[in-house]
Amino acid sequence: MSSELNTVGDVAVITLKNPPVNALSYPMRKAVMSELAAALKDERIKAIVLIGQGKGFCGGADIHEFDTPEAGLEPTAWTVIDALEQSAKPVIAAIHGICMGGGFELALGCHYRVAAKGTQFAFPEVKLGILPGAGGTQRLPRAIGVENALNMIVSGTPVVAEMLAAIPKQTLIDALSNGIDTLLDDAIVLATRMIAVTPPKIRDLPCEQANAAAYFQFARNMTVPGLVAGNAVKYCIQCVEAAATQSFQDGMKVEHELFMRLLASSEFRALKHVFLAEKMAGKVEGISRDTPQREIRRVGVVGGGLMGTGIAMNFLNAGIPVTLLEVSQEALDRGVKTIAGNYASQLKKGKLDQAKLDARMALLTPALSYDALADADLAIEAVFETLAIKETVFKALDAVMKPGAILASNTSTLDLNKIAGFTRRPQDVVGLHFFSPANIMKLLEVVQGDQTADDVMATVMALAGKIRKTAVVSGVCDGFIGNRMIEELLRQAGFLIDEGASPHQIDKAMEKFGMAMGPFRVADMAGNDISWAIRQRRAVERPDLRYSEIGNRLYESGRHGVKTGGGWYDYLPGRRDPQPSLIMEEIIRAHRDAIGIRPRKIDDQEIVQRLVYALVNEGARILEEGIASRASDIDMVYILGYGFPAWKGGPMHYANEQGLSKVARTMQSFAQNPYADPAFWQPAPAIERLADHYDTF
Ligand code: 3HC
Repeated sequence: MSSELNTVGDVAVITLKNPPVNALSYPMRKAVMSELAAALKDERIKAIVLIGQGKGFCGGADIHEFDTPEAGLEPTAWTVIDALEQSAKPVIAAIHGICMGGGFELALGCHYRVAAKGTQFAFPEVKLGILPGAGGTQRLPRAIGVENALNMIVSGTPVVAEMLAAIPKQTLIDALSNGIDTLLDDAIVLATRMIAVTPPKIRDLPCEQANAAAYFQFARNMTVPGLVAGNAVKYCIQCVEAAATQSFQDGMKVEHELFMRLLASSEFRALKHVFLAEKMAGKVEGISRDTPQREIRRVGVVGGGLMGTGIAMNFLNAGIPVTLLEVSQEALDRGVKTIAGNYASQLKKGKLDQAKLDARMALLTPALSYDALADADLAIEAVFETLAIKETVFKALDAVMKPGAILASNTSTLDLNKIAGFTRRPQDVVGLHFFSPANIMKLLEVVQGDQTADDVMATVMALAGKIRKTAVVSGVCDGFIGNRMIEELLRQAGFLIDEGASPHQIDKAMEKFGMAMGPFRVADMAGNDISWAIRQRRAVERPDLRYSEIGNRLYESGRHGVKTGGGWYDYLPGRRDPQPSLIMEEIIRAHRDAIGIRPRKIDDQEIVQRLVYALVNEGARILEEGIASRASDIDMVYILGYGFPAWKGGPMHYANEQGLSKVARTMQSFAQNPYADPAFWQPAPAIERLADHYDTF
């Protein structure tokens, strides 16, 4: 059932029932319309209350329904809102939990609103690359003023009911209720009081802004480029400007036209994909939602370096005690100091108060002996990336940890099954690959070993949510999803330098495409000695994998990146912004001479296609091998872990948008280039298969 009609005295109560967030799906819209009609017809009914069941009032339009025929079927959200607003009997929205997007617009169409304290109101549309398209941009400015409304609409940020109710002269919230328990009663009291009053409509209120032209120009100037790609922010401002300068009807026309334009945009398709991909990522194939979980009350972190301390902070932030283990007092002190320093800087920036800082530090126990981990429910190893060192650590963990504890490795490339094999409990071993800085980056790659137990997977996936990470499951392979794919991008980036591009040109082209940072800037920050070590290992394990030699020339010249003051770029002491490097230019020139390549002019399109399609081709192989279970998981890894632009939806979505047959043809053309590792450019069978059927990942 999508909604339900009850009566309390002479008040009809329509309850929105569409779990989990009462999204405005077609069946729900239909049900509300028919219950409204019944309430209007029934002469005994004098007023109507609209309330949501479950966790909130309404989370907005049904995101799953966009793109389906149901989205446009009558009654649309516009029709429902109009019918509520035109009702001759007063309609009171009783709002709790969440009131977002189309749900907020539904509430704005009602004549009165009672909100439970703590309710979050938001127009998150802009985060999907669209705008509130069912009257929100026209009604909200009339209810809370142009400036407040514009802030909410262009930011998408939730505002709590108490704050909205405190806005001078606002007409959004007529009464605050103490909570969900009192909400319906309070709404019925208000409804009964208003029976004899002509229902007021927000649309009839004036909407004024002093010096409107100057104000909206200022708003446009203040828009941060790249906040949300595409036209969403620009159009939001245009709609609110129409609210302040035109009639309600004309403003609605502007809103509708711009909304429809955004609905047809590639940014919206991408951002909607990302929203749904993020929700999907948490679901592990073959593991049901009711799989029992192990309790995690204390966490041990082995290694107090950059990764270990960042990992520890995630748990401290979530109120979970952490034992931090190091081999020497000096290293341990350094680790504790790093954590304290990070919190101190958050305190300085006003992101943390002293009480919280003290509470978090109190949860941290430094330790020098593995025995201190005996009572930990989960231990995460974040030590140097060699199998020999991992062996020592896992044998030690196996010896001291209690039965049922989870043993996790933060390895980014090594064989998790081998690591599990160092213990007598491979079923309790899992990979938890955090991304640096581990306390900030949202991505967590959860590596499922051949023997990892289902309840271990269920536990760590739920734990990821508690520490505010988006977990994506990867099978075992060299580099897992993210690093295995990036390796192919980096190989192509190296070949592009051999052939004539400069690191700067490649970085700029990728940044223009939307990547947070070009690959060579990232490499300089991560350390070129690290990538060199990985190539050394690969040369033994995968001698078939060809690399440009330029990375080795860089390493041999001691240019290890930011930390050595030079890498692909030069760096001034204490600075991280890259400067063009004459030394590097010379190294590249000498390298090209040595391998006998005469540089050619390479355009940005080739750069972007070779680097992004390298991700796509390897991504397709990863899918075929079952390392990732969905293309959308791969997209999440790249958006959250590697700075791929969300508004392009991730590499696999991007390839879908390009058309897989075009992608396959372009790959085949790259295969003609002897310097680009032609064998790699044979399109993965999955791409050819899908392209043949005009299908998508
Ligand atoms: N449509 C369909 N499903 C939705 C949804 C929506 N608008 N909002 C949330 N859901 C689903 C999620 O997919 C998830 O499904 P799952 O359980 O199968 O994974 C479930 O609800 C719970 O979502 P969360 O895990 O995100 O729950 P939270 O409690 O953490 O957050 C929320 C709830 C704040 C509502 C958050 O889900 C959210 O931000 N949703 C998006 C809201 C939104 O963007 N609304 C605007 C839609 S566009 C619109 O209304 C256009 C209009 O102007 C015409």
